[in-house]
Amino acid sequence: MATSLSVLKIGGSVITNKQREFAASRKTISRLTKEIHEGASGQLIVVHGGGSYGHHMAKRYELSEGYRNHSQIPGFVRTRQSMMELNKIVLDSAIRNGLPCISLQPSSFVRMKNGRIEEMNLRIVRDLLDLQMIPLLFGDVALDEELGFCILSGDQLASRLASELAATQVILAVDVDGVFDSDPKLYPKARLIGRMTAADAKALIQKRRQSAPSSDVTGQMMGKLKEMLPAVERGIQVIVLNGCVPRRVSEALKGRLTVGTVIKP
Ligand code: IPE
Repeated sequence: MATSLSVLKIGGSVITNKQREFAASRKTISRLTKEIHEGASGQLIVVHGGGSYGHHMAKRYELSEGYRNHSQIPGFVRTRQSMMELNKIVLDSAIRNGLPCISLQPSSFVRMKNGRIEEMNLRIVRDLLDLQMIPLLFGDVALDEELGFCILSGDQLASRLASELAATQVILAVDVDGVFDSDPKLYPKARLIGRMTAADAKALIQKRRQSAPSSDVTGQMMGKLKEMLPAVERGIQVIVLNGCVPRRVSEALKGRLTVGTVIKP
């Protein structure tokens, strides 16, 4: 029987304080790596986001716009460096808590075109999985055929990895309980959607685009859903849950989701 593969993306807002640059939440990272150790079975890839190790610098140097002039280069270099620093903190915690994690820098095996993954050499990822190790990847800045460089989000990476490696599920650990019918950070009465199909997700993205085009937080969740759609359409289950709440990640890894959103085709 083929071993099932899960891809776990841990949002930067879960493992860092997004308000303060370079503020890693070490206790949360430690709790999550313990939860992964407790919950994981089968093959697993872990991808983490940038939070305050990626987005501040990327914004300051306008890296998402692509290469415009040489003054952005120090920003590109330092964003890469700081993402590796955050990755080292996660890696150290993972190994300390018994996880056989191997860090791979995505930008060294992914080529981008217009902000989208054009090509990925997954040979090493596959070989590590076959040896029951856990590839540990992260959102990165990467070279782009058209733009010079761009941001490679952990969400795009997780979705593509899941599709290309025929994963069973993607678990997105974020800082809210799942997908809501409106923005829970703005509307306390927002309702958590427990289950949705790809068609429901598309309809929600469309509805929110019309009702709250400028809401940052809403935009972020809708961006995640959009990124996950191709994976869902390939039959991969996507679970969105709150990684800030203890036990949600370990329970989901064991196949026992308590609170969150399950998206199926
Ligand atoms: C961002 O990765 C990486 C950089 C800004 C370099 P993500 O987009 O996956 O990070 P989060 O999860 O939103 O923080």
